[in-house]
Amino acid sequence: MPHPLPLIPYPSDVVMLDGLFRNSRRFSLSLERSCDQSFSDSAVQYAKELLDRDACLASSKEAANLSIRVEPSLHDKEEAYTLEVLPQNVSIGAYGHQGLFYALQTLRQLQLAYPQSIPCCRIDDSPSLRWRAFMLDVARSFCPVGEIRRIIDIMASFKLNVLHLHLSDDQGWRVALDAYPELGDEKSGQYTKQELKELVEYASVRQIMIIPEIDMPGHVTALLAAYPALSCTGGPFSIPKGEGIFPDILCVGKEETLDFVKMVLKEIASLFPSPYIHLGGDEIPLERWATCPDCQKRKQALALSDEKSLLRWFYREMTHYANSLGKQVLLYNDYVDDTYDQSIITQIWNPLLDGSQSEHQAILSDYFHSYLDMDHTLLSLHRVYKLGEMLQPGNQARVMGAELMLWTEYISTREKRDLHLFPRLLAGSEIFWTRKDMHEYHRFLGTCSQYGKLFLPPHTSITPRHAWDPPLIRQFISRWKRKRRVKRNSKMAGISFA
Ligand code: ACM
Ligand code: ZN
Repeated sequence: MPHPLPLIPYPSDVVMLDGLFRNSRRFSLSLERSCDQSFSDSAVQYAKELLDRDACLASSKEAANLSIRVEPSLHDKEEAYTLEVLPQNVSIGAYGHQGLFYALQTLRQLQLAYPQSIPCCRIDDSPSLRWRAFMLDVARSFCPVGEIRRIIDIMASFKLNVLHLHLSDDQGWRVALDAYPELGDEKSGQYTKQELKELVEYASVRQIMIIPEIDMPGHVTALLAAYPALSCTGGPFSIPKGEGIFPDILCVGKEETLDFVKMVLKEIASLFPSPYIHLGGDEIPLERWATCPDCQKRKQALALSDEKSLLRWFYREMTHYANSLGKQVLLYNDYVDDTYDQSIITQIWNPLLDGSQSEHQAILSDYFHSYLDMDHTLLSLHRVYKLGEMLQPGNQARVMGAELMLWTEYISTREKRDLHLFPRLLAGSEIFWTRKDMHEYHRFLGTCSQYGKLFLPPHTSITPRHAWDPPLIRQFISRWKRKRRVKRNSKMAGISFA
């Protein structure tokens, strides 16, 4: 009997039973009385989409081969499910729509892996992390809506549940807003409000929440190119092509800038119903503020000692404003420390900087394990899987989730995107979902090599190849420098990194 089952992510509990379920018949569903109308509608819709377009409701319970029930014992676990495959019948129990969806995703993988007969088994499953995310940088390289939909489908089939869209950066602004029509343009790539609303809906049906990110007060050259008066110097600015950290940031001394940012947040908040909004906060050079009369005037009026305090004040203002719109703020960990508003969730991309040690709730996406824009030679599948080791039980109260990241300065086509995503996205799926004591790289690798391609849409390449772009050498040097710095700083701090 085959064991373990070829599933990604691997479930929490699997018991193999005797017998086989013949997979060749059409699915006919029996929905138990416990299912209300909306649960029943979802069950039929998911079954049609994921298992069998001809799936239908059975004429009687006896005629059904897939029975679905609401499972009261899972009432506090919306994403959990049980799946029992017996010779005559498959049965699913879940309390929430998410659990139901994930049960059918698991059944889909079994169906694909065993086109003839599925070995009988009982699976009890629930996720280890509640925030299982992927960040797509659509600012550096615009990603068409159809392509984001494809990525959402792939994420859903591996039980990832948060798509973080990096919508603005030095190189581009991607949302068409009513209040500021000069921001971005159709020619260089932009999403209309209608497209975003439809995308949010598309993701939501697949149990994925979209989190918008508007990076500030740094990484804003594209914004300043359209509205130079919001800078400290007045510009003019042109949108850069390559990567980099640029000195011109938003001038927080000017009232106009604060009003502008609030208006942007209001429109963005109205487009994305998620209770979170990401305000970036990475790589902010503060030197312009030090010489700007407006910023200095503000600093003095608030009796602040330095530019770092001015930044803290700016984030406090924006966090309160976002909270008033019903949103909780996420920030990269560059400057966040325990003096920042406690409601902020810090995304730890650089474990050497302040926020990595603060008491805030955290999302782990450290540079050394989760940056999929790096070549496979620099970030191997195994190394991504090792991110799981950082999800320590001691950390768990603080760590609400983890995220894989795809920055796109050099990744603009679907082919390149796939080259960087696969199979590493699958490793993220497993370590974010599967209980830590069940992480087992060799089992994962076996399933990934044998079935990974089958679980992905046709024409998706999952063989790690080397993306021999010119920037590889730059990536290599920068990685080597950072690694040296990590080692030195970690030694001083008495921390050891994998
Ligand atoms: C980042 O990589 N600058 C978040
Ligand atoms: Zn200024």
